[in-house]
Amino acid sequence: MCGIMGCVGKTDIRKIILNGLAQQEYRGYDSAGLALRCPDGVRNIKIVGRVCQLAKLVEERASDCEGAVSGIGHTRWATHGGVTVTNAHPHESCDGMVTLVHNGIIENAREIRAELVRNGVTFVTETDTESPCQLLAQIYDGDALTAMSELCGSLTGAFALVIMFRDRPGEIWCARRGSPLVVARADGASYCASDPTALLDYTHDLFFMEEGEMAFLTSDGCKFFGFDGAERAKTSIRLDWDSVMTDKGRYDHFMRKEIEEQPDVLRLTIDAHTVVTSVDMAKSLKISSDVLKKIRRVQFVACGTSHYATLAARDIMESLDCELDIMTEVASEYRYRNIARGGDTLAVFVSQSGETADTLAAMRLASSKGAHCVAITNVRGSTIDREVEHTLLSLAGPEIGVAATKTFTGQVGILALLVLHLLKELGALSTNDEARLIGGLRSLPAKLQSMLEREPEIEALARKYSDSKGFFFIGRRECVPLTMEGALKMKEIAYLPSEAYAAGEMKHGPIAMLDEKLTVVALVPEGDLREKTLSNVEECRARNAPIILIATEGDEDARSYANDVIFVPRTERELFTLIGLIPLQLFAYHTARTLGRDIDMPRNLAKSVTVE
Ligand code: M6R
Repeated sequence: MCGIMGCVGKTDIRKIILNGLAQQEYRGYDSAGLALRCPDGVRNIKIVGRVCQLAKLVEERASDCEGAVSGIGHTRWATHGGVTVTNAHPHESCDGMVTLVHNGIIENAREIRAELVRNGVTFVTETDTESPCQLLAQIYDGDALTAMSELCGSLTGAFALVIMFRDRPGEIWCARRGSPLVVARADGASYCASDPTALLDYTHDLFFMEEGEMAFLTSDGCKFFGFDGAERAKTSIRLDWDSVMTDKGRYDHFMRKEIEEQPDVLRLTIDAHTVVTSVDMAKSLKISSDVLKKIRRVQFVACGTSHYATLAARDIMESLDCELDIMTEVASEYRYRNIARGGDTLAVFVSQSGETADTLAAMRLASSKGAHCVAITNVRGSTIDREVEHTLLSLAGPEIGVAATKTFTGQVGILALLVLHLLKELGALSTNDEARLIGGLRSLPAKLQSMLEREPEIEALARKYSDSKGFFFIGRRECVPLTMEGALKMKEIAYLPSEAYAAGEMKHGPIAMLDEKLTVVALVPEGDLREKTLSNVEECRARNAPIILIATEGDEDARSYANDVIFVPRTERELFTLIGLIPLQLFAYHTARTLGRDIDMPRNLAKSVTVE
């Protein structure tokens, strides 16, 4: 939801800002802009379009941008106001005193605007962001710290603000509440960005701004303050990601690269939390055995793909027949359903970015009720990591493609191990099941690899079915989370209508939609539900829907039920998600490619959803 970059203290600031915006473009890509503080004033250059187009325009005006001492930039995911150059950031106050970029939503923007307009201020955009910009210019009387405090105290809603004052060249001011902002120092320069990955070219030691915090950046250093203006000491957090990890390398798309990385993600995850055939989370999860032994209720809370990962975890728990009360809910509902509980509750929040507004709010709610809260996130230093009682890091490395792929695998892997750890502490895991499932997990990276090698076959199917008017993804029990993830991937990157259904539900309504242009992708691994699912497939076939089956290797009989079959290696039934996922990801990827979609930056989306 918008990417911000700021820098002070370098000679090549415009390149640094453009580079930082390009690395954060997946956060929003409706428009882009940058403002450079040059010796004779501010250059503000904005476009509707991508960062590469902005870079072209900036280069055309390079001679105009010489000698910049500070700069701020922004890639926008529009919330308030259409996608226009005027609405693009940076915004300037009508007197030119304040230049500002913003990520978040200012909830009292209308009230502020009305009041300022009454006082004669002229607004030029339709954005909520212009309100803090104009308000700050009205408040400011030469004392930036006091003006910033007053501004932050007047705003409701979520914001990461990065600001330059006309009469303070070589200074950048930042404020954060609800939207992420990271600050860094390296080689006589100070930087800020929405996302830590944009700073890794300069340093790995990062200052993650807290809720209600302001920062003052110059070439000499960074200072941090509370909204009350009191200075705060702050220590950096080291992020061990390599900047090569954020490079597309030989791949056409980040998504494709990230799909390929999944065997390694799983390997790392298993190695980090197991010893031979035993789960070993004692070092990574600092919840005492005494606490875990008393857990009676587990609540999994997340959004989007992360939510589907929790559904897979629920299935693993249920299959192991534990007597816990298990619940999964999307964070945006959990917050409002009066279901948060304390005491003997373990609440598990899963968020790749660690910045999803609803997941954060749900975590704060559960924590206030007294639940034992664990966050599973991919980003060390993210808001959820810093706020939650316990963090488990998923080990996927930076994910740039907007559609989640390898982080889902990392989440399911670590959730599976967390489930085993908890059940073991509760005395509800047999040695046999533990060894069986850990053995199953250990065998998976090689199976994932073999599945990736079948890409040409899946690509051919994607081409064949890319003129479908839509897809139904169906399956039962352990396959249901996969049907949801398969449908979501298809919607996100191919923009094709796609539905996920528990196979037994088809005849209760959705089957009415089927005809020869609506393709059914059915997950029918071997096991107790194969026959029942195939009966549902037959019902779809009788309505002329083309059928693609995902079946277990060796199940030659499956061919007689389908137009096409993708075979996947045999695995433990509870771990099917991790292998069944690969063909679904590749199928969506190649369908989107055939249709010429913008795979890494699909329309209307952004990687982290920092607004409610
Ligand atoms: O960062 P989070 O895991 O909290 O994000 C949750 C969802 O926004 C995310 O999974 C989204 O659904 C992805 N675009 C899916 O590909």
